[in-house]
Amino acid sequence: MDHKGAGAIKGGCMTKTGLMLVMPALMASMALAGDPPSIEQGKDLLNSPKLGTDGKSCATCHSGVKKLEKAATYDEGQLGDIINQCIENPLKGNALDPASRDMRSLIIYFKSFTKTL
Ligand code: HEC
Repeated sequence: MDHKGAGAIKGGCMTKTGLMLVMPALMASMALAGDPPSIEQGKDLLNSPKLGTDGKSCATCHSGVKKLEKAATYDEGQLGDIINQCIENPLKGNALDPASRDMRSLIIYFKSFTKTL
């Protein structure tokens, strides 16, 4: 008798929340595919006041990637949530669609920090 396999299939804690947030938006973005997101655009956005309504930019607080040291360690869903919190609170702007080009660019820009920090 061999009961070895029995315990192997438990657990499996998935991060469903992230997926549920991203999926509908992902489909929406495929419908309006335009220019691809880019690190360059992410960098521009960080320095631009256009994400907010109070004249501040992300760089007001994150100039020279300050306080972004951990950014690349989050998964994309978490990063999207954090970015939107920073847009809605300090910048008084409107949260970005997780699949929008702006959000994708910010995410790939922050993800690129793994290599440099
Ligand atoms: C008023 C200041 C302020 C502004 C403006 C601001 N942030 Fe933040 N942000 C913070 C603070 C404070 C934290 C928390 C940092 C920490 O815990 O080390 C943070 C954390 C983050 C993180 C998580 C990084 C990490 O290492 O934990 C990301 C990503 C981020 N902000 C993105 C943005 C983006 C994108 C914008 C512009 C849309 C922005 N922030 C604008 C203050 C700001």
